[in-house]
Amino acid sequence: MSRETCFRLCPLTSLPDQSAQGFSILWQSKELELLVVREGARIHAFVNSCPHTGAALDWAPHQFLDAEGKHIQCATHGALFRLRDGYCVFGPCAGQSLTPVPVEVVKEDVVIRTVVEP
Ligand code: FES
Repeated sequence: MSRETCFRLCPLTSLPDQSAQGFSILWQSKELELLVVREGARIHAFVNSCPHTGAALDWAPHQFLDAEGKHIQCATHGALFRLRDGYCVFGPCAGQSLTPVPVEVVKEDVVIRTVVEP
């Protein structure tokens, strides 16, 4: 029987509009690096790994967005990804996407839910 695991990442109020924040969670005995982006009322989460080389995207802790706050920008070669779906619109991995992670807001907290198979 599978069971659901819930990770409360942060209060929604700690994630201003047009901002991103990095998180590290323990997932199946391994550390998983994530980034969470707020775009108005919508929250998106992705694995913090560029599809070009697998490198982490942030150029400093929690620094994931370009200067305008309109795209996620890879620190290594500058690829730009849409906030809403992680699709790469510019750079060496154009046409590829970040790996999405299901995220939701529960009682004003940003929450990741995962299903763990036995
Ligand atoms: S590692 Fe991200 S664009 Fe090259």
